[in-house]
Amino acid sequence: MVLGNNVKKSALLVFSLAMLMVFAVSCEGPAGPAGADGADGIDGIDGVDANATCTECHDNSQGIFAREIQWAASVHATGGNFERNTGECAVCHTSQGFLGNLDGTYDWEATGAIINNPNPQNCYTCHDIHNTYTEADLGLRVSGAVALRNVTETIDFGKGDVCASCHQGRTVEPWPVAGGADIAVSGSRYGVHHGPQANTFAGTGLFDAGSGYTNPAMSHAGLITDACVTCHMAEPFGVQAGGHTMKMGYDYHGSLELNTAGCLACHSADDAVSKTEELQAEVQGMLDSLKTLLDAEGITAAGSDNSVSGTYDPVVAGACLNYKALTEDRSLGVHNPGYVKYIINNSIAVLNDLP
Ligand code: HEC
Ligand code: HEC
Ligand code: HEC
Ligand code: HEC
Ligand code: HEC
Ligand code: HEC
Repeated sequence: MVLGNNVKKSALLVFSLAMLMVFAVSCEGPAGPAGADGADGIDGIDGVDANATCTECHDNSQGIFAREIQWAASVHATGGNFERNTGECAVCHTSQGFLGNLDGTYDWEATGAIINNPNPQNCYTCHDIHNTYTEADLGLRVSGAVALRNVTETIDFGKGDVCASCHQGRTVEPWPVAGGADIAVSGSRYGVHHGPQANTFAGTGLFDAGSGYTNPAMSHAGLITDACVTCHMAEPFGVQAGGHTMKMGYDYHGSLELNTAGCLACHSADDAVSKTEELQAEVQGMLDSLKTLLDAEGITAAGSDNSVSGTYDPVVAGACLNYKALTEDRSLGVHNPGYVKYIINNSIAVLNDLP
């Protein structure tokens, strides 16, 4: 009843307003005062119709949807390790920790507080989504020089800078120095951590035993402008590889079917595939030889990549650190063919030279 009355009242009001407008227009009376500005959109920009800028992304091109399903197939979405939500771990493993570290609101060194309801790396981690509510928000969160953690150097990989912020080695204290003090290794995780790809690509931050072999000119680092993004985010192939899946390839009858879209500027597709297969087999063989030597020193044991606690000659600790980093880089040389072979060859050489 009450509702009915209100509806009637408002219908009457609308009708009267409409009549007033008709009257005003037909009689051309003096214009009324300007109306107040409309309420701002959600955090919108004054003077801009929010809807107009929303459609710079939310249109019918299906571009956002394509990225969403690619991302959903990526290890960023499926990896499941984002419960590493405290201290430095949270800076790479959670979206909130990463953004908080960038803008200074998450001080992992001082407090390293638990991040509740952590999210994995997602649209908001790499892009500035819903900041200005314009297309400019697709800009990347990180651009320009990135400081490496385990060596006093910065790198600049273009669009790959955002990747390098997380995919780089962690610090190792004390860093082994050939001829220097012995190294006490405690625990199974001695090394620079699981994702040292920015180091291998740039050719820095691994243990350089410095004997015998020289570091050749870098074939990929100086040439590929956007580094990681050029190869891993090349033209996608469904949700199997490329684009926001960030995958280099997919499993096809038990072997890697490489997405060569990002290689074609420099290699033919066939060459990219055959060179990769050849290099990966060679590097795997070299890593196996290095592992045999490390097992003999007792810093690793056969059948496991874990380190064994103990005190070691610095070159043994350094060679172990290299073995783990190059195993966990998981490109088996592709990131930087010359540097990777140089590091492994020198590691093998110093272990062979030990008394
Ligand atoms: C830079 C591109 C971009 C612009 C401009 C943009 N959005 Fe979005 N929006 C996104 C993305 C990407 C997502 C998906 C986020 C996700 O998967 O959670 C999204 C998700 C949403 C959602 C779903 C809920 C959520 O937060 O996930 C709403 C609602 C939304 N946007 C509203 C708006 C409105 C309203 C505007 C304009 C005021 C706007 N967006 C402008 C990129 C944009
Ligand atoms: C500098 C960034 C960074 C920091 C800091 C970091 N991680 Fe990671 N972590 C990574 C990356 C990148 C990967 C994924 C590597 C890959 O899959 O190639 C990873 C992988 C892992 C994995 C999965 C390993 C596997 O074999 O599947 C675990 C577990 C993990 N991290 C635990 C931790 C813990 C615990 C901490 C804190 C003590 C930590 N991480 C700190 C970047 C980081
Ligand atoms: C790990 C970082 C990362 C994540 C997570 C990520 N993006 Fe991206 N995105 C990038 C990079 C880098 C590019 C540039 C790719 C290029 O230039 O080839 C890009 C490009 C884009 C573009 C094209 C922009 C343009 O200027 O053409 C869109 C749209 C986009 N991303 C949407 C999304 C959405 C939606 C999500 C979440 C489902 C998402 N991204 C998650 C890193 C990321
Ligand atoms: C905020 C940190 C962060 C950023 C930024 C980031 N990654 Fe990752 N990435 C990770 C972590 C952590 C994992 C492992 C996820 C897990 O296991 O939960 C991972 C996983 C991956 C994997 C899969 C590794 C596997 O185990 O198969 C690839 C490939 C990858 N990232 C490439 C990229 C590329 C390319 C970029 C830049 C466009 C990028 N990442 C940006 C942290 C990051
Ligand atoms: C020259 C092209 C190229 C560039 C540039 C490149 N990668 Fe790779 N990456 C590869 C190939 C090829 C593999 C091996 C794929 C395989 O064997 O499964 C790989 C493997 C990986 C893996 C292991 C997971 C996987 O999918 O196999 C991660 C993580 C990764 N790269 C991250 C990065 C990051 C981060 C950068 C930038 C610092 C980068 N890559 C630059 C080609 C490239
Ligand atoms: C900007 C140019 C460029 C791009 C893009 C590029 N490469 Fe290369 N790559 C080179 C150059 C130059 C060399 C050294 C000369 C040679 O061996 O062809 C090289 C060497 C290699 C080698 C080592 C060959 C050997 O015998 O040591 C492999 C493997 C390789 N590239 C794979 C790839 C793959 C896979 C991709 C794409 C995912 C790729 N490259 C993208 C320029 C490029």
